[in-house]
Amino acid sequence: MLATAHTSALLGLDPRPVRVEVDTFRGIADFILVGLAETSVRESKVRVRSALLQIGVNLAEQVLVVNLAPADMKKSGGAFDLAIAAAVLGALDKVPAGSLNSTLILGELSLTGAVRPVRGVLPQLMGARDQGVRCAIVPRDNGPEAGAVQGIDVLTAETLEDVRRHLSGRDPLPRAEAGDYEPALGGYPDLSDVKGQHGARRALEVAAAGAHHMLMIGPPGGGKTMLARRLPSILPPLGYGEALEVSVIHSVAGVLPPDSGLVRRRAFRAPHHTVSDAGLVGGGVPPRPGEVSLAHLGVLFLDELAEFRRSSLEALRQPLEDGSVTISRAGFRATFPARPLMVAAVNPCPCGYFGDSSGRCRCGAERVQSYRSKLSGPLLDRIDIHVSLPAVEVASLRTSQLGEASHAVRERVQRARDAQRARYEAGETCAATNAQLTSRELDKVAAPDDAGARLLVHAVEQLGLSARAYSKVLRVARTIADLDGSDAVRSPHIAEAIHARVLDRERATSS
Ligand SMILES: Nc1ncnc2c1ncn2[C@@H]1O[C@H](COP(=O)(O)OP(=O)(O)OP(=O)(O)O)[C@@H](O)[C@H]1O
Ligand SMILES: [Mg+2]
Repeated sequence: MLATAHTSALLGLDPRPVRVEVDTFRGIADFILVGLAETSVRESKVRVRSALLQIGVNLAEQVLVVNLAPADMKKSGGAFDLAIAAAVLGALDKVPAGSLNSTLILGELSLTGAVRPVRGVLPQLMGARDQGVRCAIVPRDNGPEAGAVQGIDVLTAETLEDVRRHLSGRDPLPRAEAGDYEPALGGYPDLSDVKGQHGARRALEVAAAGAHHMLMIGPPGGGKTMLARRLPSILPPLGYGEALEVSVIHSVAGVLPPDSGLVRRRAFRAPHHTVSDAGLVGGGVPPRPGEVSLAHLGVLFLDELAEFRRSSLEALRQPLEDGSVTISRAGFRATFPARPLMVAAVNPCPCGYFGDSSGRCRCGAERVQSYRSKLSGPLLDRIDIHVSLPAVEVASLRTSQLGEASHAVRERVQRARDAQRARYEAGETCAATNAQLTSRELDKVAAPDDAGARLLVHAVEQLGLSARAYSKVLRVARTIADLDGSDAVRSPHIAEAIHARVLDRERATSS
């Protein structure tokens, strides 16, 4: 008898429907799987056979022919197990074949018949719903993320036996619980721990307010890593739409925290400098998101920037430019969103003390130059704010006075972001934050008043700012004005933007 079950596969973040057709007839036991199944899918024969045996369905003397359609799409992973087992049950008349209609089935099976969680349940349910599927069965452990999808009836299963009983109309499976979405604040270290370093704290606030990428240069132990780890604590809470976007990526990567449903706080990703290019920007077959996508709408922290392989840093350039990563391989293309706020830290030289007033740096000019040349120029071009951190003064460290707390800074950042949203939703530009403004858009929304314009001209002449650095100054000045609650970009805003060492690449790597 022939039976059909419905499941799906992912290409990047895009779900593609897959039909599981099973035909059975009596003969010398055989299990034939066709439909461009890779090794990981072919192994499902062993799991399905064993799981079915556990619930008393013996496939001895049965020839099973399983077809995964469409046949021209490569299929991998164990997520088809449960749908294959359900279709086999239908074909053997152990459940009514009609019970499989219009139901999306996702889940891997263990040899004992337990239903194991799979990646990408969130986008697959959203895709199925959009294609008019009314009901879905997913692993119990994927329940929290599945509950976030509205407009489709999502049931959760713990074992294959549960699924059989449900399909036979005996014991209905429980529904995935739809939890209310509430963004999580806190959970990150607080900015009040950072003593002194007023310039860098302010730069961090400006970076958060305008979503500007930022580079911190300074001697060891000055608090660069400490500050970067506190950046998520001053970003605005993650809105529901943003949480869905981020959760879809984390679901596909299989890193959604168990039991919590959607991601509720901004991601903070700090890949080690030995990370592979694919680990950083995504890749593999099937394609998986990399760190730059896992940090989408959160923070990507590149500590010890000079230690990263040059190829890794070059690979980051396109995602940071486009806000997305496209992975092309023979036969498919997958796109992952990638719009993190990038913060990087680097020492000024190999020993770390170049330019330090103590004079303890022993690196020769050549060593310093070769160290700095490791930084990728094109990547630095994407960084609006370059800030130097001096060593922390002993007086600052000895004080018992705490720095300003994250929540107070976050409120100012939120107001500046609100100002940007109001401006950009009006449709004058394609940008959502100041960091995304193009030079042409800057002329519209960040043209300084007369005094500001004079100051800018002066800076261009005196400091020899390149056209790129000129745009960076204007972008950052626009954010400083937003933090100041000012519609106009005025000279103090321009002055601070210049003073915040918004340097072009040449200056950043040679000063
Ligand atoms: N401004 C500061 N306020 C309070 N503590 C600080 C400050 N700066 C550094 N520290 C202390 O020094 C430790 C090291 O700081 P951190 O790791 O942030 O320095 P770093 O600039 O990243 O150094 P490296 O270049 O070696 O990575 C921190 O864990 C903290 O205890
Ligand atoms: Mg550090």
